[in-house]
Amino acid sequence: MNENSNSSTTILPTSNSGQQLQWGTQNPPVVKPEVRSIIYQSDVMNQLMKMIDRVAPSQANVLVMGESGTGKELIARAMHDRSNRKSKPFVAINCGALRETLLESELFGHEKGSFTGAYNKKMGLAEVANGGTLFLDEIGELTPGIQAKILRFIQEGEIYRVGGKEPIQVDIRLISATNRDLEQEVTKGQFREDLYYRINTIVVTTPPLRRRKEDIAVLISHFLNQSQHAYLNRGRHVSDEAMQAMLKYDWPGNIRELQNVCERLQILSEGHEIMVGDLPDHIRSPEKNDKFIDYDPQLPLYELEKRYILKALDFFGGNKTQAAQNLGITIKTLYNKLHEYGEFDKYAVHTRPTK
Ligand SMILES: Nc1ncnc2c1ncn2[C@@H]1O[C@H](COP(=O)(O)OP(=O)(O)OP(=O)(O)O)[C@@H](O)[C@H]1O
Ligand SMILES: [Mg+2]
Repeated sequence: MNENSNSSTTILPTSNSGQQLQWGTQNPPVVKPEVRSIIYQSDVMNQLMKMIDRVAPSQANVLVMGESGTGKELIARAMHDRSNRKSKPFVAINCGALRETLLESELFGHEKGSFTGAYNKKMGLAEVANGGTLFLDEIGELTPGIQAKILRFIQEGEIYRVGGKEPIQVDIRLISATNRDLEQEVTKGQFREDLYYRINTIVVTTPPLRRRKEDIAVLISHFLNQSQHAYLNRGRHVSDEAMQAMLKYDWPGNIRELQNVCERLQILSEGHEIMVGDLPDHIRSPEKNDKFIDYDPQLPLYELEKRYILKALDFFGGNKTQAAQNLGITIKTLYNKLHEYGEFDKYAVHTRPTK
């Protein structure tokens, strides 16, 4: 039931100008140990993990599909950790978080002076991942221009830095993830068919939590006993009534939502037992969810929207994809709003190579 992968390291990028994440041409900075566990008890996850074991040692490109918060990145890392590339970097980049030109230079690097602000030569993430795994998160967000460049990179196994003339050979295993129906995007002409067939040699689907409710109890116990607030837990357990409510709830935000709720319980609930009253209202009584917000003459629409968006981000633990999805806006709109509010830096993009 408990799948402990090897401990590994995360190389944290330094964020300078808000959007731009750089670690320059030399050695990536800062290493931080990280242990990742995949917790499950359900048959469906058991089968998925068996599939991961089979697929991991191959060189096949893998597409991980699933709703937000279902563990796509965790699965991608597990695949890397079980492959013969495990001693090489695992590099993740969120394709939805950067506009096309920035994404290209993040991914492929750039030569000194290739555009305004390119003061130094910079190694791209594809090059950093050489010998290891490149994880393209939210691949469904790629614009047509960058789709073409990634296709060429996959076909040729070489990249060109922005402003560079010499091809650079790069050996990577590609794992992509999406919460979109890519086949439908292909039909709509928004995702290149040839790229789709290149990235989806093997498709792995992470099931939503509501389809594997057998995992809820073990996940709760895991989340209550780990994280920075675990000391607050002090042997506390979950009452039957609270557990029943959590089993009944559908968890639209999947495991990430459950993780956030557990974190909140660790901090806010008192006593030895977690009671149903400690749970957030919408979990305790989902039917009461259609609360009407009263009109407040002091609150202009702009301010209401801002608060609502920031609350959604909070609710999903800062996860922009999930917040955007549940707010019914595109991730690009969400980024624009955050820029408008001056809150972008707080929710900076993640681009985490690990070794
Ligand atoms: N089976 C699991 N056991 C333990 N933790 C899990 C499990 N599945 C997911 N998590 C945790 O839940 C959170 C969400 O997982 P992850 O980021 O991999 O999801 P995702 O599908 O990539 O989400 P998104 O689409 O929003 O990017 C992470 O903190 C991850 O560690
Ligand atoms: Mg993800």
